[in-house]
Amino acid sequence: MSFLFESLSLKYNQTELHVLDQTLLPHEEKWISIQTPDEAIICIQNLQVRGAPFISLVAAISFSQWVLENSPNEEQMLQCLQNLYESRPTAVNLENIIKRFKNFIQNKLTSSDFFDRAHQMVLEDKALCEKMSHHGAEVLSTYYNILTHCNTGQLATAGIGTALGAINIRQQNSPDIHVWVDETRPLLQGGRLTTWELGKLHIPYTLICDNMAASLMYQSKVDHIIIGADRVLPSGAITNKIGSYGLAVLAKHHNIPFTVVAPSTTCDKNLTEISDIPIEQRPPHEVRGFAIGKDSKISWAPVDSHTHNPSFDTVPPELISYWVTEHGRFSNQDISESTGSKYQLWNSQFS
Ligand code: MRU
Repeated sequence: MSFLFESLSLKYNQTELHVLDQTLLPHEEKWISIQTPDEAIICIQNLQVRGAPFISLVAAISFSQWVLENSPNEEQMLQCLQNLYESRPTAVNLENIIKRFKNFIQNKLTSSDFFDRAHQMVLEDKALCEKMSHHGAEVLSTYYNILTHCNTGQLATAGIGTALGAINIRQQNSPDIHVWVDETRPLLQGGRLTTWELGKLHIPYTLICDNMAASLMYQSKVDHIIIGADRVLPSGAITNKIGSYGLAVLAKHHNIPFTVVAPSTTCDKNLTEISDIPIEQRPPHEVRGFAIGKDSKISWAPVDSHTHNPSFDTVPPELISYWVTEHGRFSNQDISESTGSKYQLWNSQFS
């Protein structure tokens, strides 16, 4: 079978869509076929498909294939988009892509146009990854021991990734880095996925439990922290995987630069208040034990333990040293002054 697009975790043409099941990694590399938008929703909700850009792209391809095959009417298309929108609430990329499709519906695009546009979105994400990773690598150029959280690489995007893309290019420019990988409880995207990607890239890494990061910083063993984002607000506040806020506070205390890498497709043009960002609450069994893929039956807490399981947290701008997008690097001063070309560029991502 020939595909129009193939990456480490995504393959598709006009009729077939296959994704690598991220709940089974790193021990099993199993591709699954997504036949309908409803199946895409299930994959997104159980994290077989995850990562802010990747969720939106799988939704886009699945939706456009369904349109191509079924020629639904406007009402059916809007309902399908609404269902996809509700699959996971925090990453704004999905919302942004759905708005683009709603515009296509308004503009009466043909069924095959929908698929072409979805394919363009995938190619666009790949190109954005390449650009921001080069900018991010420049930020990292004088740092050697780099800590990252969650998974922000090829599994989370259509390209080389965001923060992990920057690490990848930094290593290609000068192969002298070492990465501290936060395991990222509760669903271990760092321990399961980032380790797997770094291994494939032959980038030296050491896996740590999340509660080990602070003492490494105290011992001056971390030079730079770099993460991705699921939502970026005009103020520079960002939302990312739970644990990001703690790392940012620690970075500030230890005077370690803290960088966020995200494309403009992760910018939220509508929200200004941190408190308005929808934070996904996930089920208790993920905290009572380990609950993903084959190991989903591991449980260590009493079955009736009360739990708190927000999947994301927010980092305020004063804790962030650099923001990197496809447009380049921005400092705190760049985004807070209300004049200047850097400010204009930052602002244009939200218009
Ligand atoms: O719950 P996940 O695994 O979808 O969370 C992913 C993250 O938080 C990533 O850091 C974020 O999506 C940026 S990835 C390019």
